[in-house]
Amino acid sequence: MIILAVETSCDETAVAIVEFKENKVKVLANIVSSQVKAHSKYGGVVPSLAARMHLKNMAPVLKRAFKQVEKKVFSEGDIPECRLQKKLKIDYIAATKGPGLIPALTIGVSAAKALAYALDKSLVGVNHLEGHIYSNWLTEFEKSKVYKVHKVKNDFKLWKPEFPILCLIVSGGHTQLILMKKDLKYKIIGETLDDAAGEAFDKVAKLLGLGYPGGPLIEKIAKKGDENKFKFTRPMMHSGDYNFSFSGLKTAVLYEVKSYSDDAPHPNPLPRGEGAGLPDKYKADISASFQQAVIDVLVSKTIKAAKQYKVKNIILGGGVSANKELRKQFGEKINKEIPNTKYQIPNASLSTDNALMIAVAAYYNIIGEKNIGSWRSVKADANLKIE
Ligand code: KG4
Ligand code: ZN
Repeated sequence: MIILAVETSCDETAVAIVEFKENKVKVLANIVSSQVKAHSKYGGVVPSLAARMHLKNMAPVLKRAFKQVEKKVFSEGDIPECRLQKKLKIDYIAATKGPGLIPALTIGVSAAKALAYALDKSLVGVNHLEGHIYSNWLTEFEKSKVYKVHKVKNDFKLWKPEFPILCLIVSGGHTQLILMKKDLKYKIIGETLDDAAGEAFDKVAKLLGLGYPGGPLIEKIAKKGDENKFKFTRPMMHSGDYNFSFSGLKTAVLYEVKSYSDDAPHPNPLPRGEGAGLPDKYKADISASFQQAVIDVLVSKTIKAAKQYKVKNIILGGGVSANKELRKQFGEKINKEIPNTKYQIPNASLSTDNALMIAVAAYYNIIGEKNIGSWRSVKADANLKIE
């Protein structure tokens, strides 16, 4: 079965063309075109700009995807795209239908509708969070021919997990603990009451003047910092439920930075403005201390839930799960506290948004006969819930 998947929920225009044969997955194309540069000067994603850029990028990204397929599958050289699509025998078109920014989602869903109509194929509407979850189903072949495409291997085998699975989704828009008792069955057992973890990384990076997106920038500078320098609050760590809150932590960082700036020695007061004039060591210590506070809360709540629900596997997904320190500390704590629980994380390049994960989630929807319809049936939904 070959699936062409489109992802445009935020600021990446992504297309993947993926072949599924029994438990084998062959990535025929996987293109992610990031808009990060365009949004970084505004310090965050501007929805209308994202939509305009998706519109501009969609056709070139599709073309690049077909070029990759041509190189990989056919040896006869330049094949016109229209013929290529027929030769390739795509079985399904899939698109992220939500949650996300509605102007952005609409572009990907419309492109997928057009493809489904033109190729006369069914359309699968995929939940973005389901994509982050199912990125974990791509496990690598032990002995694969490793040729790298955008840092992702070409061949994978599908994971055959034991349930129940506890998924921690940590992205720019979501922080959720989701319990899965079987494929496609989700129960949210906790979520953030305010900011998402990724959003907190982005806001703290902004107030330190580091840029956007904040997660990777904080992670980089935190390496040079002392995580014990500032004792930031661990919000809701002992709240007795599995919910999260990160806006207070961001405010604690804001107060610390403000008091540092106010106390700057006269007659050379620090220039005002986000992060301006803060010494590198100070920014590194703040970043390390903030990052550690987020990690402590995420790890402790997830492990507590894993114990209560006696899960067989813990998996992570979403942009924040690319964080190496988070990945490492999770592994260490799970080994120490619940050694019989397995821990699975996606390839770091699949933690952030991509269309390959959408193709995998679409595949499970297809075999589970869920969310498949004609090109008319799918509608973008900014607040789509996972259920
Ligand atoms: O999943 P994603 O690509 O998009 C959404 O669905 O939101 O996640 C993006 C978020 C951003 O907030 C970004 O700062 C954060 O993931 N992120 C990270 C790292 N890489 C991306 N946060 C912490 N450490 C990272 N290495
Ligand atoms: Zn995402």
